[in-house]
Amino acid sequence: MTNTQTLIKTAKAMVANGKGLLAMDESNGTCNRRFANADISQTLEMRRAYRELLLTTPGLGDCISGVILYDETIRQAKDDGTPFIQVAQDANLLIGIKVDIGTQDLAAHPGEKVTEGLDGLRERLQAYFEMGARFAKWRSVIALDDIRLPSQSCIEANAHTLARYATLCQEAGLVPIVEPEVLMDGSHPLTRCQEATEAVLRSVFGQLTRQGVVLEAMILKPNVVVAGLGCPTQNTAQEVADATVQCLRRVVPAAVPGIAFLSGGQSGQLASSRLNAMHVGHDLPWPLSFSFGRALQHPALDIWAGHDANRVAAQQALVHRARCNCAALKGEYKTGMEAP
Ligand code: G3H
Repeated sequence: MTNTQTLIKTAKAMVANGKGLLAMDESNGTCNRRFANADISQTLEMRRAYRELLLTTPGLGDCISGVILYDETIRQAKDDGTPFIQVAQDANLLIGIKVDIGTQDLAAHPGEKVTEGLDGLRERLQAYFEMGARFAKWRSVIALDDIRLPSQSCIEANAHTLARYATLCQEAGLVPIVEPEVLMDGSHPLTRCQEATEAVLRSVFGQLTRQGVVLEAMILKPNVVVAGLGCPTQNTAQEVADATVQCLRRVVPAAVPGIAFLSGGQSGQLASSRLNAMHVGHDLPWPLSFSFGRALQHPALDIWAGHDANRVAAQQALVHRARCNCAALKGEYKTGMEAP
């Protein structure tokens, strides 16, 4: 099998069988912030113990096809010494790795960011491949407001960077997850998010095509089209689903083997109900799946709270959210699946 054929096979497997991805690739800074909010001590050992809890959740592989890890995590091991890579492989989970190194202010563009990490990326990707990773993730963030943002230059800088990352991934034998996230912060209406998301995705696919990315060997990880968190009008799941599917159908080529949404700060239940609505009465040219971080993990993190005694209950909460999202991929999620 050629490198490209293997990449295509991996990309398809990431969204096959009605499964999704678990994003557990928070940088140490982000993970520590979430630990602090849950009153958990922010140490290397606690981060390791939490990631062990997630990876060893019984039944995870029934709903999850792959996990996205962080550089610290991919090098760690269970308490008994079994490397996390081995744990994931034994659970039939594909291994992914976050390879961007975070965002910086975009010069001359107040309020906007560009993602960094291209320096030395070729060598890092080769090393991750040798460790067992088969896909990678790079997140760009696009801020939105009612009038000024995003600027065309911010859109183009991030699209260019995403495409450079994606070509390097495919060269190294890793499927790129291309994640241009239009943020939910702000008070803009849903229509504004739809316009911005469409503009961002048009630019991203222009760059991906121009720079020679094999579209059949990548996964798109977009935001759901929603009104800003501060907008007085919050839309129904149906309205969100209609706007999101319309936006994606306009710009994402059918050659792309799958789309896996980020959750971006939506609650677990909202994320599931919106995903469900996309799978009822819409004509979808690609599998539409999930690659959630917070919307899968948050209940589990709160329950665990850093105490070993809560471990089993936390794992049950994680697998419950994963099952809810798998049900959503079949249009079978009902709020009755949630605890009262
Ligand atoms: O890059 C972001 C993560 O992969 C997804 O996290 O679902 O909490 O937005 P999220």
